[in-house]
Amino acid sequence: MEIRSVRGMSDLFGGELHQWSHVEGKIKEIFKSFGYSEIRTPVLEKIEVFSGTVGDETDIVEKQMYRVVTDSETYVLRPEGTASFMRAVIEHRLNSSGQASRFFYYLPMFRHERPQKGRLRQFHQFGAELINDASPEADAELITVLDQIYKSFGISEYQVRVNSVGCNQCRNSYKETLKQFFKPKLQELCEQCQKRFDRAAMRILDCKRETCRDIAKSAPLITHCLCADCKAHHEKMKHCLTKANVTFEEDPYIVRGLDYYTRTAFEFTSNLLGAQDALGGGGRYDGLSARFGAESFPAVGFGLGMERLMIALQEKQLLPETASAPVFFFAPIGEKAFEILYPLSLRLKRHGIWCDMSYDKTKGLKWFLKQANRVNAKYSLLLGDEELKNNIAVLKDMKQGSQENIPLASLENELLRRAQHAP
Ligand code: HAM
Repeated sequence: MEIRSVRGMSDLFGGELHQWSHVEGKIKEIFKSFGYSEIRTPVLEKIEVFSGTVGDETDIVEKQMYRVVTDSETYVLRPEGTASFMRAVIEHRLNSSGQASRFFYYLPMFRHERPQKGRLRQFHQFGAELINDASPEADAELITVLDQIYKSFGISEYQVRVNSVGCNQCRNSYKETLKQFFKPKLQELCEQCQKRFDRAAMRILDCKRETCRDIAKSAPLITHCLCADCKAHHEKMKHCLTKANVTFEEDPYIVRGLDYYTRTAFEFTSNLLGAQDALGGGGRYDGLSARFGAESFPAVGFGLGMERLMIALQEKQLLPETASAPVFFFAPIGEKAFEILYPLSLRLKRHGIWCDMSYDKTKGLKWFLKQANRVNAKYSLLLGDEELKNNIAVLKDMKQGSQENIPLASLENELLRRAQHAP
């Protein structure tokens, strides 16, 4: 029986992996220019990192975590990065300077969801987190970074949707107002929303079912229930976005699937994606450190789904050529030629030049040329008895079909020179 990978978890290799690396590299450069430094946390965390912090009524904690149970402990595979990040910040006192500090991560996440296009069980997230800064400018900076990432790849087909979910105080009174609104309509809501009613009434606004959405359309909006400070923060944040040239729209229905948000919450959606249309999202989470029992400090961040970015880039045909190829393919015919070309190929590789060579000494010219074509080499280099007699090697340009004789004495220099000019 063939053993296959776990459903919703993919292998990455060849041309596709090449494209991923290219995209990852560009994103890391953007983080660098905005002053974010990398942090890596372990895949496995104690369950307490997420339960009680991300929110026990969220889908992630309620039903999507992969558990690893040993005799004494229950661990989980990281379902999201922010709680792990916060655990690490507190453990290593990364907040102790009291100064604004910026971090990014690029890590696999694990959620036991129903797989579909753009929704996997192991997926990859770039995340950015900025701690020790409570200002609306910090929120707008994060949104600008995310906006810059998509823009830098040439994607413009997305909406930046922003909201404020208020602070504990105004949110609690809003939740009460919402409950009063939904109470007489409880029987018309889906089973899931009926369950949410008591402890997570705001998440009813996020339900995708049409009946629930219809009812939610006339629900009171958080925008009208914000306290004066939250309202001022939100207005300033939007002002900063305008100054940063970020086109956005206000969406009071954004509540996010995680419980730790306060004030700013945002989502980038795109119709390039299909049903799972969230390219990325995030917000402020000033209360999260206290949920870990630590002193309270402000924080804001986002997560960007790599798989979804790749879908968008593919849709728009913005991905680079899938395969990189060797500059040279060496074709030694006979033992003597092999003895010359083998060390030469290693020397070129030490110079950083991709030089392919088969170690099979039984093959002839036809086979070598076929291989050079298969790997898409720019040049093949032929050395056989006839060439040895004349102290030359034959360099063939595989695309143009032209070939020339190169004296063995200057072969290495000539190949180095050609490699410099190879694309
Ligand atoms: P999130 O909205 O759960 O936020 O995930 C962020 C992004 O990860 C989504 O917008 C989506 O692009 C991608 N994503 C989520 N689930 C899947 C999946 N099953 N398959 C593929 N891609 C997926 C967070 O995780 C927060 N930690 C973001 C954050 C950082 N907030 C503050 N700081």
